[in-house]
Amino acid sequence: MDTTTPEPFDAPTVIAIKRDGGVLSDAQIDWVIDGYTHGRVADEQMAALLMAIYLRGMAPGEIARWTAAMVESGQRFDFTDLRRDGKPLALVDKHSTGGVGDKITIPLLPVVMACGGSVPQAAGRGLGHTGGTLDKLEAIRGFTAELSKDQIRQQLCDVGAAVFAAGELAPADRKIYALRDITGTVESLPLIASSVMSKKLAEGARALVLDVKVGRGAFLKTETESRALAQTMVDLGAAHGVPTRALLTDMNRPLGRAVGNAVEVAESLEVLAGGGPDDVVALTLALATEMLAAAGIDGVDPAETLRDGSAMDRFRRLVAAQGGDLSVELPTGAAVETVTADRGGVMGDIDAMGVAMAAWRLGAGRARPGDPVQAGAGVRIHRRPGEPVTAGETLFTLYTDTPERLRPALAELDGAWSVGDGAPPQLPLLIDRLG
Ligand code: URA
Repeated sequence: MDTTTPEPFDAPTVIAIKRDGGVLSDAQIDWVIDGYTHGRVADEQMAALLMAIYLRGMAPGEIARWTAAMVESGQRFDFTDLRRDGKPLALVDKHSTGGVGDKITIPLLPVVMACGGSVPQAAGRGLGHTGGTLDKLEAIRGFTAELSKDQIRQQLCDVGAAVFAAGELAPADRKIYALRDITGTVESLPLIASSVMSKKLAEGARALVLDVKVGRGAFLKTETESRALAQTMVDLGAAHGVPTRALLTDMNRPLGRAVGNAVEVAESLEVLAGGGPDDVVALTLALATEMLAAAGIDGVDPAETLRDGSAMDRFRRLVAAQGGDLSVELPTGAAVETVTADRGGVMGDIDAMGVAMAAWRLGAGRARPGDPVQAGAGVRIHRRPGEPVTAGETLFTLYTDTPERLRPALAELDGAWSVGDGAPPQLPLLIDRLG
């Protein structure tokens, strides 16, 4: 006799409803997320459903329920009992929808810590062509993001931040994120919104700031789509009692002069030392200002923490707390290739997607889930749009540990940049603010 409890739904029916443009019920959404998390819905069935969602979209009510079901798939941290100097922690976090050269979390967290904020950050690995904070920070010898809840609590009190792999938070997202990455279903508003917000709602921040990317190097290319994504996430945050604001920022060109893993950590260290590229500094400070306001911290100047070394000091303490050793030189790929200018003039536009794909081909990202990434793989950009170029000078340097990767990476860069007679149009970095 079969004594197993019958399932209330079956995956082929749920998939077909979405395939045909229908709206999934709350019960169907709860069932499919729980079933996938626990292995009762197979990878190929979830892959088909994700593609149907990608093609058909979701109604706002479906996105809200899908997100809530992902939050419910795991633990939800609560750090409201923690105190520093007798006062509750100002718990605030930031998340980006995915960019190229987007190392902003690395200088941003220490700035916010130095200003009195506390940041519990569930961070991700690379997705599609974009890099992941964890992959970058793991380029530091010894750094680990596998933190227990107790370690996270301790670090929030002692150091002011913890950067951790989501682990038991929103485990449905961990599985869906990996599946989207290999099934062509990353670039979907409902799937991005639910992925970002499920982790962020579960991680225990009391306020959130989102950096929603717009342009060629973003998952959603147009301002209209990105604005809708930002509004959806702001609304999801409000519905779950986590005040959320969003900046829409340009992602047509790579951020800064480094795209990859260790190269981005090195650039972040330059910013923390008071230097670094203007756009990385400007975005770090804009997001810090939003985070401090969201956390109710006023009367502090985030820029001062980069000038006086207090942000660098916080970064060192954060890295040391997570086992990292900054005294060990950051790795650099052993095989190196350069791209030089065949004429003088002015550096034109640089296509973020071309540079991202070059870094990915060099080994900075993964082709299959669970693949290791190369810490030393990446691209250095020597001339940014609008900078003068002399014939014969190096414009890009490519690094990898696998020499055979150089040729395909060079092919990705081909056509992604130009040198001309005049400066390309200026693109505003900060496009808008919502929430
Ligand atoms: N970051 C996430 O966590 N998920 C996405 O889908 C995109 C960016």
